[in-house]
Amino acid sequence: MRCSSRLFLLAALLLLRHQSSAAGLHQAAHHGTTSHASLWGQRRYEDQVVLRFNVSTVEHEAALRKAVDQMLLDVWDFTINYTDIRLPNRRIRPFLSLLPEPLRTEHSILIHDVARAVAATYPSTYKGDTEFESAMRERGITPKTVQWKSGRRRHDVDDLFFKDYQRLAVISTWMSLMDNMFRGRGLVQMFNVGQSYEGKAIPALRVGMRPAKPTKEPRKTILITGGLHAREWIGVSSVNFLAWSFISAYGDDDLATKILHEFDFVFVPVLNPDGYEYTWNVDRLWRKSRQRTSMHYCPGFDLDHAFGYQWDGSEHQSDPCSESYGGDEPFQAIEASQLAQWALNETTQNNVNFVAYVDLHSYSQQILWPYAYSCSASVPNLENMQEVAMSIAKYMRLVSGEHYTVSSACEGAVTSDSSVRRLEASGGSSIDYFFHDLGAKYSYQIKLRDTGSYGFLLPNDGIVPTGEEVFSAMKGFGDYLLGNNGIERSYPAAITPGQEEQHVMQQTWKA
Ligand SMILES: *[C@@H]1O[C@H](CO)[C@@H](O)[C@H](O)[C@H]1NC(C)=O
Ligand SMILES: *[C@@H]1O[C@H](CO)[C@@H](O)[C@H](O)[C@H]1NC(C)=O
Ligand SMILES: *[C@@H]1O[C@H](CO)[C@@H](O)[C@H](O)[C@H]1NC(C)=O
Repeated sequence: MRCSSRLFLLAALLLLRHQSSAAGLHQAAHHGTTSHASLWGQRRYEDQVVLRFNVSTVEHEAALRKAVDQMLLDVWDFTINYTDIRLPNRRIRPFLSLLPEPLRTEHSILIHDVARAVAATYPSTYKGDTEFESAMRERGITPKTVQWKSGRRRHDVDDLFFKDYQRLAVISTWMSLMDNMFRGRGLVQMFNVGQSYEGKAIPALRVGMRPAKPTKEPRKTILITGGLHAREWIGVSSVNFLAWSFISAYGDDDLATKILHEFDFVFVPVLNPDGYEYTWNVDRLWRKSRQRTSMHYCPGFDLDHAFGYQWDGSEHQSDPCSESYGGDEPFQAIEASQLAQWALNETTQNNVNFVAYVDLHSYSQQILWPYAYSCSASVPNLENMQEVAMSIAKYMRLVSGEHYTVSSACEGAVTSDSSVRRLEASGGSSIDYFFHDLGAKYSYQIKLRDTGSYGFLLPNDGIVPTGEEVFSAMKGFGDYLLGNNGIERSYPAAITPGQEEQHVMQQTWKA
């Protein structure tokens, strides 16, 4: 497809406009940092480390939880094998003194210098400009030098777009560029799912080729979100990478083309735009939204604990200062509520049927299925859910050799009944909500790279390989859904372990 140079001029102008306002923001934030820093102490992470604990009993998990709450520390991640906690060097000793004996020794330093790792995730040329922005500006001035072609992946400007993590303004400009270039074919449509607490648009791309003749059948739709937690930049870039990969594969790649005929994707790369901006301008490791809470000095809601299904106001989820604060009632967090309202409206007014939901997070390389809120709630299509998770993991491994584990989202550091306070609150999650209330038969949270060397601070050379992993996983997933496996059919009998791999291969990777 030939693209007019007028478009590029337009895009470049948009970028320039955003740049100037973003530069202003950046300055403002810089001033803000000082007062913020005095308020919060170590805002710049000097002298901070991330510790990894080996938690092997329910009692130890509960003890760790208690100490974390008491000192208001930041839990980075927890899996069945480890729990990672960020804290200043000088607080290590007091923290360890709160823990039972084995935990005092069973830990290691995962990240020695958080400040340095933080600095390394910003674009190398970060003075307000990414290379993509400068390239677009230059090309805007001499648009003849730019050649966009459809059907070919990653070259020229798009190469640059995925070379760095990008700020919100650049992402929305890039999305409207996609809309401008491909809307004519009916392939892409940009829209907003709603507005954030601070009034920022929450942008989305709908990608899919509907039949020329409108049908009465609901349009099967796969919703992909990212950035619920502001600091998980790799989730944001991966949603964009997926969108771009499907768009550019259309017409060239048979499987992707087939998938786009049968399904619409809706890509929402930044569900938490206020928090995301904040991670660029003030605090790289901010997790929550920026909405005011009842405690003035503790703003922000954890969007992944704010949805309306099995929302719970349990102890550490109801403290506004907690990193897992889900609100005082379900859907109090604006962004979660906007996404749900939009989705409901799609099903009632727009003849959309959400067949699958995928929420991209980081880190720990895990594929998780509902229910997050409890291990004792049963999932009717558990066999299919597991089978697909395993195929997704397999396809990721085939592309890059990276190992992703699969499990239910309810599992914490150790499997347990719900009588013990878990390390991370788990009610009100988005995968539970879309699975249960919106009827998305397949609902996953995927925690992307890595397994802890950088944690949330994955350097920008991880953007493309992680994106490739997710793209091949979603193509495989789409292939499975094309066979209509489990969307409308009844569930097959459980697969015995010996046949499992073979079955997965046959079912899913026919190509
Ligand atoms: C974790 O602790 C368990 C039980 O104490 C022990 O068996 C295991 O080897 C430990 N793992 C690591 C990585 O230290
Ligand atoms: C935990 O460790 C075991 C043994 O090293 C490994 O097989 C498993 O995949 C790990 N699980 C997670 C969630 O990291
Ligand atoms: C609901 O969907 C209809 C049809 O697309 C649209 O016109 C309307 O604005 C939507 N309403 C809300 C509240 O989003």
